[in-house]
Amino acid sequence: MIKISPSILSADFSKLGEEIKNIDQAGAEMVHIDVMDGHFVPNLTIGAPVIAALRKITTKIFDVHLMVENPQDYVVSFAKAGTDIFTFHIETAPHVHRIIQNIKENNMKVGIALNPGTPLTTINEILDDIDMVLLMTVNPGFGGQKFIPSVLKKIKELKEMIRARNLNIDIQVDGGINKVTAPQVVAAGANILVAGSAIYGSDNIAKSIEDLRK
Ligand code: DX5
Ligand code: ZN
Repeated sequence: MIKISPSILSADFSKLGEEIKNIDQAGAEMVHIDVMDGHFVPNLTIGAPVIAALRKITTKIFDVHLMVENPQDYVVSFAKAGTDIFTFHIETAPHVHRIIQNIKENNMKVGIALNPGTPLTTINEILDDIDMVLLMTVNPGFGGQKFIPSVLKKIKELKEMIRARNLNIDIQVDGGINKVTAPQVVAAGANILVAGSAIYGSDNIAKSIEDLRK
């Protein structure tokens, strides 16, 4: 089953609560929250205090995507704020095993994100320990960028790695996902689709979510 995780990066931040209620009622399974630190990526967004505030208005899964250096420093505060899935970038984590354990000790699911240029071999040794792999389909930092088609092959390879090892791991894709690219990533093996501009840029949020799911 395909799950949709709308990225609030493209929402109107002046009425974030309302914007989250909109996707909640429209049937999205998750809320994708992009956390950026201005170091790992050249942009700044939000942190734990905003997540904690939003936690009060929805019971939907908080799918938190940390594009930050030193992600280990945020495990405890993000768990307390109400994060369900803690996704960090493999490019930021030399002690990947330690941070995975730490996330689990704090009762969150573990996601690992890979930039388009980062090979799958970087997660070979820890694949058995995680719940989700996020394959970036743009270079992280901004919403509204163009899908990078070469990632399709990588999605297929990851799907095959997971199948060969008989694991139960979600494949999430993020960046440039819309009506045109959604069928391509799903055919390649992705099962959680993140979309920002395709959902919040549309005048009918419920329909845009259904279009992606179909
Ligand atoms: C980009 C973020 C994405 C972004 C996707 O760095 O990780 O979640 O919001 O936006 P769209 O769907 O517009 O490409
Ligand atoms: Zn994201």
